[in-house]
Parts: sequence; C-alpha cells; structure tokens
Amino acid sequence: MGSLTVRNLSEDVKKRLRLRAAANGRSMEEEIRVLLAEGAAEAPVAAKAASAAKGDKAPATAAAASQILLIISGGIAAYKSLDLIRRLRERHYAVRVVMTKAAQEFVTPMAVGALSGEKPFTDLFDQHSEFDVGHIRLARDNDLVVVAPATADLMAKMANGHADDLATAALLATNSKILLAPAMNPAMWTNKATQRNLKTLLADGVVTVGPNKGEMAESGEAGTGRMAEPLEIVAAVEKLLGGGTGEKPLSGKHIVITAGPTHEPIDPVRYIANRSSGKQGYAIARAAAELGANVTLVSGPVTLGDVPGVKMVRVESARDMLKATEAALPADVAIFAAAVADWRTANEGEQKMKKDGSGQPPKLALVENPDILATVSKLKSKRPALVVGFAAETEKVIEHAKAKLKRKGCDWIVANDVSAEGGAMGGDDNAVHLISATGMEAKVESWPTQSKDGVARQLVARIATELNGKTT
Ligand SMILES: Cc1cc2nc3c(=O)[nH]c(=O)nc-3n(C[C@H](O)[C@H](O)[C@H](O)COP(=O)(O)O)c2cc1C
Repeated sequence: MGSLTVRNLSEDVKKRLRLRAAANGRSMEEEIRVLLAEGAAEAPVAAKAASAAKGDKAPATAAAASQILLIISGGIAAYKSLDLIRRLRERHYAVRVVMTKAAQEFVTPMAVGALSGEKPFTDLFDQHSEFDVGHIRLARDNDLVVVAPATADLMAKMANGHADDLATAALLATNSKILLAPAMNPAMWTNKATQRNLKTLLADGVVTVGPNKGEMAESGEAGTGRMAEPLEIVAAVEKLLGGGTGEKPLSGKHIVITAGPTHEPIDPVRYIANRSSGKQGYAIARAAAELGANVTLVSGPVTLGDVPGVKMVRVESARDMLKATEAALPADVAIFAAAVADWRTANEGEQKMKKDGSGQPPKLALVENPDILATVSKLKSKRPALVVGFAAETEKVIEHAKAKLKRKGCDWIVANDVSAEGGAMGGDDNAVHLISATGMEAKVESWPTQSKDGVARQLVARIATELNGKTT
C-alpha cells in the first residue's frame, strides 16, 4: 500500500483537515483514514454529524484546533506529561507526541498513545510508518512545540544544535515557537553548563515555564528543578497561542482572597496593627488571575499596588474586611491570607487621646474581632466550595494549624512559621505546610522554602486540580 504525503497538501487543506480532525476528536492520520474509507464506500459523512453521533463536544473556537507537538524527554517528571496530555486534550488541542529513547524508560508509549489518541513517534529512521511522518513534517505540522519534561541533556543538545534523534531533529527543524518545561535535580539545574545552555536558548527565543522550587520526585531532594504543574504548562500554552480555547484552568471561577494586616483604631491617629505586608495574598491573587479566575482581593492597608485584572476592595479594619468579604460572595473558593487583628479597642476615641499629666498611660480595653475564616466556613448558604485559611504560627506550627482547621471548619490550612527565624512576615520567601481535611484525618504536605510567588502558583495549581477533578 502506498504512503500519503500530508506535507504536499496546501496550507488551506491542511488547516481544514486539522479542524475536521479536532472536531471529531481524531488525529489527522485517523481523519485521513476515515475520509479515505468514506470516499471508497461513496458514503461521505459530515464531520459534525459524525461528531454528534459520537457525542463529542465540539471545540469552542477555531483556535481550539491548534496542533501541539509535545516532546517528552527522559526525566522522572515524565509521568506528569500524561496528565498534561489529558489537560490539553480536554481543551480540544490536538496533541502529537515524540518520545526520546530515555523517556520510554519512564512512561510507556502505550500510555502516551492511549491519552493522546495516536501512537507517539520515537524513531528518526522509521521505514515502517504507514504515513510519511518525517521529522521535517513533525517539526512543521504544528502551532507550538512543547518540551515537557525538558531534561538537562535535551537542553544541552538544543543549545548546541544537535539533531541525532527524532526529538532533537524536530526541534532543530521547527519554525514554531518552543515552550520548555525544564525538570531536573536542583544541582543539575544550577550547574553552570545548564545555566549557560538556558541563556542560549532564551536568547534563541525559546520560552520556559518553571522549573519550580519544591520537593523532587526523588525522595529527600528539594530545591529548584521541579517541573511546572500540568495546569501551569497549559496556561503557558494558552498564553503563547493567543488565548487558545479561551478557557484557562480557573476560567469561570470566582475566588475571593483577603490579604495584608488590618488596622484597628485606638483614636483618629493611632491604631493596632501587625507586620503583614500582604505580599503572599497579592501573589495568590496574581496567580489565580493568570489561570483565568475572576478574583476579588479584599486588602487591608498595605503599600502594594493594585493587581492588574483583579477586583480590588481596600479596607482598614477586621469588621470592614468581613463586610467586604461577605459582599463579594458567592464564590467558588475563598482564601484567607490576611493577618486579621484578633482584638480591637473597646472604645475607639473620637478625638486624639492626650497625656493628662499624671504620668499614667491610658487603659486600653480590648474586645475580640469577628472571626472571618470561621464565619465564612460555617455559612449555611453561599459557603464557597473550598475555604482555605492561613495560620501564622511562631511555634508548634503543624499542631496548631491542625487544631485551627478543626476549630474553624475550613477545608485547607496553609500554615507558616512567622517566628523571627521563620521570616515569612514581610519577607519575599515562605515555607508553608498545606494541611487538608480528609475524613477524620488531617493530611500534611510540607513544601520547602520558596518565593511567595512560587507558593502562590503551587497553591493555585492545587486549587485548579481540586476544582477540575482529580488527575489520573
Ligand atoms: C532515575 C533517573 C531519573 C532521571 N531524572 C532526570 C531528570 O529529572 N532530569 C534530567 O535532566 N535528567 C534525568 N535523568 C537523566 C536522563 O535520563 C539522561 O540524561 C538521559 O540521557 C536524557 O535523555 P533525553 O534528554 O534524550 O531524554 C534521570 C536518569 C535516571 C536514571
């Protein structure tokens, strides 16, 4: 049987073929096979009719038919690429996969093929392929090339223009934008050679997502080198493809976030406050907005500027913060990162308090402020599906946070050490533990110290996974 050369078709025909394939949830090869079979039987079936019969969901837009070439190289994070394929296909991207020889040591071509809908490509010299899928066609017949995970080895080969296997040959021959999701041991990532290669690749116009700081798949290893989460990679893909399907992982979700300290007035010029800078809450708002959420940020008094694309509500006191939070509901998720003052003065002075010459300081009576986390967690109606609290502790961080989770009735607690040594208050880094309620037991995940942006991205990716259903 003769082979078919897709690259000889006009760009217009290729585009229509690709749209038709995406509408039917098939690879281009499968679509060609169907067309040939239909033609031979002289019984053409319209793509949409076939799709409707299969009960497939049509892609939201023409852009949804974008073809992605995913290259999986041989890193331990390759298992996450299976979820990445699933996430991309959910958004109606057509995904064609190339696996390096090393990648096949970590995930099987069969698993990749089952998820992508077509057999992955593995060999540069494949004489037995039914279709003419040369490396040049693989390189050209796509809108974006994604390398996830990108190993140190593959980055080195790319930086130096190697083409000794299918992955590197396709990468060298492509005219498409390349998105890399590096993943490797932290020592490999910080090695001067890798950093030199990264610099070369960035100068060549390659775009990167991650790596993130965090625990590595190898036990006991932590640092920068962890592959970006699949949903972060999807967001980067959508950004590069001009919005892609227009659907981001948190599209259509409303997230209310509180941040910063509260100021509890003593008199018109004095107040009780704390050292919270608001940086962590603002970073979460930014990360959630990047993943497409509709974000309301209720902020106490901080020196930070507005977060673009986020609805800002600026408040002073705990009572104002509760009011603004309740007014922002309903929401799918509420994240309470603000350091709300526990107490306020019982009688706020209407005028500035004066020394009375007796040498005696005034007595300040305190009353408890409303508990915003507990109030929202216990709402009968309008309770967000996921309520996340923060626990700033100076000792017995996990023990106190577990108790807080129970007491407040929230779903997750992000606990951090705000002792002088912990340094989270006002600083740029944060070491947190994510405590979630699973039945009677509380599950604890300790994330290593990372930037507040890193914590925010990791938390928001976890929330997106929670809302979109568990990964396989
Ligand atoms: C258990 C194991 C895990 C590995 N994990 C990684 C990794 O996460 N990142 C990386 O750059 N290399 C990793 N390597 C090394 C690569 O597999 C090796 O450099 C290989 O040649 C990469 O080939 P490729 O770039 O063609 O896929 C790992 C090796 C082993 C044995």
